Amino acid sequence: YTAELDLSDIGKGTYPFYMLKEIDEQPAVMRKLIATYAGENGLMKVDPEIVKAVQESDRLYIIAAGTSYNAGYGSKMMLEALTETPVELGVASEWGYGMPLLSKKPFFIFLSQSGETADSRQVLLKVNELGYPSLTVTNVPGSTLSREATYTMLIGAGPEIAVASTKAYTGQIATLAFLSKAVGESNGLQIAKDFDLVKELSLVAQSIEATLSEKEKIAKIVEKNLLTTRNAFYIGRKMDYFVAMEASLKLKEISYVQCEGFAAGELKHGTISLIEKGTPVLALISDPSVAAHTRGNVMEVVSRGASAIVIAQKGLEQESDDFVVSKVHPWLTAISMVVPTQIFAYETSVQRGLDVDKPRNLAKAVTVE
Ligand code: G6P
Repeated sequence: YTAELDLSDIGKGTYPFYMLKEIDEQPAVMRKLIATYAGENGLMKVDPEIVKAVQESDRLYIIAAGTSYNAGYGSKMMLEALTETPVELGVASEWGYGMPLLSKKPFFIFLSQSGETADSRQVLLKVNELGYPSLTVTNVPGSTLSREATYTMLIGAGPEIAVASTKAYTGQIATLAFLSKAVGESNGLQIAKDFDLVKELSLVAQSIEATLSEKEKIAKIVEKNLLTTRNAFYIGRKMDYFVAMEASLKLKEISYVQCEGFAAGELKHGTISLIEKGTPVLALISDPSVAAHTRGNVMEVVSRGASAIVIAQKGLEQESDDFVVSKVHPWLTAISMVVPTQIFAYETSVQRGLDVDKPRNLAKAVTVE
């Protein structure tokens, strides 16, 4: 059983925490996005003006904060492959104080669950002053960033109440998948035509459902490895590195375990000195081209005493692995691979007796600089 998506529903129902409800809603969010952005004739229902603006640009700048920033990384490969345009990421709080040298025809994409983040808005105001076109991808219709950008695409994930963002991250990537495909098709790209997004996102929804049905398994791993530790690492290569960044942010936010998301190959260049007996290292393995390399990094940390927890995509798994995620299209693994890490963070917070939905010092939307 997974939660249905009811837009008017801001109650917790029988859920102990909003975060768990929102994690469970993700398959429904994927299906709703299909209904919103896929037309019956197989064409994407994406505003042609947005498609045109992307086509006319020579570089896409994604500006965001927190989880939304990580969603930008989770979308970068697909956007670049399908729009054939380089994508650069900007931390909103940094770019507000000075933008780097921009390309000749920049197009700005603001990712923001709330549409109210002051740091992102500060960049948008500059972008507007300079007269560059922009798109806000947000969960909140009529929000400030939506009103002030040239264009808006809605995630439509329903209200996200828990401070730690889950369905907005996966929803943002899926929304950008529709934009990527629409641009690629409009450019006549064969790989865009071959990318059957309705089918692929349906598979993503099924993969999430399969993961959700195994929460107990994750709860047990947490009990064994994450209950008392003060620090942990997530490692991965390529897309799994981007997921590692979000996975570690989620764990930090709600369980207060200091966790770093690391490019698996970079660990040895310094940070491996932090590995001690029992340090949890969670490895993400979804990309066949680098799976063996990441497994090599797992062996490196294990030989230094780490407790490795391997989360692998189906087809790449080994018998000793701790969790297997069912296979999805390589451009969409940021969605499928992040879900078990959301449950890892949730379970760690619950088992430590913390307030999952309202972690200390954090606000859902930060509307001050
Ligand atoms: C706050 C929240 C984070 C969120 C970030 C960006 O710091 O605590 O969970 O990712 O803002 O929010 P946005 O609404 O712009 O996506």
